[in-house]
Amino acid sequence: MGAAFSSLAMRLRLRLDGIFHRPPRDRPVSTNVEGELFQLLGDSPEVRRAWSESHVIGLEQRISARLRGTLRFSRAPAPVAEPSGPWLEMLRLIYTVVRVRRPERVIETGVGPVGSSSAFILEAMRANGRGHLWSLDAGRYTALYGIEPGLGIPEELRSRHSLIIGESRKCLPQLLERCGPVEMFLHDSDHSHSNMRFEFDSVWPRLPPGGILLCDDANNDSLDRFSRSVNLEPAFLLYGSTPFGVLQKPATAGSLTVPLGS
Ligand SMILES: C[S@@+](CC[C@H](N)C(=O)[O-])C[C@H]1O[C@@H](n2cnc3c(N)ncnc32)[C@H](O)[C@@H]1O
Repeated sequence: MGAAFSSLAMRLRLRLDGIFHRPPRDRPVSTNVEGELFQLLGDSPEVRRAWSESHVIGLEQRISARLRGTLRFSRAPAPVAEPSGPWLEMLRLIYTVVRVRRPERVIETGVGPVGSSSAFILEAMRANGRGHLWSLDAGRYTALYGIEPGLGIPEELRSRHSLIIGESRKCLPQLLERCGPVEMFLHDSDHSHSNMRFEFDSVWPRLPPGGILLCDDANNDSLDRFSRSVNLEPAFLLYGSTPFGVLQKPATAGSLTVPLGS
């Protein structure tokens, strides 16, 4: 009952966002993942190497194997599957950013039953030999299907991972307090305008210059408005029909986000 009610409330909020918080009609979007990566990180042999590497690590098969091993006796539904298609390309982008920037601390909200984004971040950290990921998830799928978030994360990647179960509104401020500065943040939890804005407002002061904020399902204008409030312009990549937002604190040459009006 509780899970059904919160899923209904979420659908209603998203519907209202679709009316009151539509993304700007003139929002520039790109479908060129590689090009946007070069804009963000610079076009260097290191970036090209990391991007190529992201296509050959075969993490999706390892996620799949892990799911087959753990889901045999559960009542998990078919959507609990290895990542594929356009989302896989975004995961490769995330992998490349972590591989090149070599962050010490990353936070994400929204792990999901599989934990694909967590696994790609952790795999890049494993290759870097440094970094820790804190993932926050409200456990909606646990309520629905009785499975823990991040079931597909391979065992060998888990030593760099801390999973916190809870609502981002409640747990994100505490987590940020505990972690100190984080070099990268990925939003993929509750995609309502109010929650997204809450997360961006909370995280931004904790990102150092050059820090990167990534946002899946940027289907409302929260990232556009937030970016305007800090005088920056976000970039949006369209994968399938879903916009993926990128905002970087200015610091490095070749930054994707530039101060407005410059
Ligand atoms: C789309 S899934 C995340 C997918 C994941 N990033 C991946 O790559 O597989 C969304 C997740 O957000 C979590 N979630 C929803 N609302 C939340 C909230 N308010 N705070 C934290 N997590 C939330 C849900 O429990 C769900 O597991």
